[in-house]
Amino acid sequence: MALIQLEGISKIYKDGQTNLSALYKVDLNIEKGEMVAVMGPSGAGKSTLLNILGCMDNFSEGEYILDENKISQIPSYELWKVRNKYIGFVFQYFALIKEYSIVDNVSLPLMYANIPYRKRKTLSAETLRNVGLGDIINKKPSQLSGGQQQRVAIARAIVNNPEIILADEPTGSLDQNTGEDIMNLLVNINKTYNKTVIIVTHDPKVSSYCNRVLTLKDGRIVADT
Ligand SMILES: Nc1ncnc2c1ncn2[C@@H]1O[C@H](COP(=O)(O)OP(=O)(O)OP(=O)(O)O)[C@@H](O)[C@H]1O
Ligand SMILES: [Mg+2]
Repeated sequence: MALIQLEGISKIYKDGQTNLSALYKVDLNIEKGEMVAVMGPSGAGKSTLLNILGCMDNFSEGEYILDENKISQIPSYELWKVRNKYIGFVFQYFALIKEYSIVDNVSLPLMYANIPYRKRKTLSAETLRNVGLGDIINKKPSQLSGGQQQRVAIARAIVNNPEIILADEPTGSLDQNTGEDIMNLLVNINKTYNKTVIIVTHDPKVSSYCNRVLTLKDGRIVADT
């Protein structure tokens, strides 16, 4: 059974009389360990798809089965547990907490998972070492370059050892070389730990790092190669 199964997923926004289908009857299976790019024009539904996959947004119809869990049957106040167990999220603008040191930023998912303080620190420091930032764990995000901040965000996404890493335009605010470093890091996580990685991007360079490319248009998957 595929790790991720979408069956007829639609996401409908109601705007007065008109309905807008951000996603329309999407069927999709993604196996554990795949590295997938999601492409398509602005407004195609890429972020909507990623947010639904990450249990950050609900859907209007269909079913999402994540590792045999039917997501529609999990009450919304319980969904964070599924998210915490399965999902690591990386954003275009890093979304770090600027008052916290980077090691404390990375620790956050462990705090939600009730891991004790000492263990949180050790695990977070180790994860930062794995993304090449072991020497600066007490710095604040503002003291880091964009590429370093995205490494922190990736460390935060993987520290909890989730099955799935979701990234919405992770290289979108970085220069080309830094973007390539970030892609190499994501490929490394995919290969070394057999994690499923799903990346929304406009950049064909980024999708060339992936084994599979989904193209969305008007809320539908129009190509899967
Ligand atoms: N909260 C919302 N309310 C109403 N419509 C929305 C909302 N969020 C998204 N949409 C609409 O849903 C469609 C899909 O949006 P989505 O953000 O998924 O596109 P996208 O492919 O990620 O685009 P981009 O490349 O610009 O980020 C768009 O038409 C958008 O206007
Ligand atoms: Mg988007």
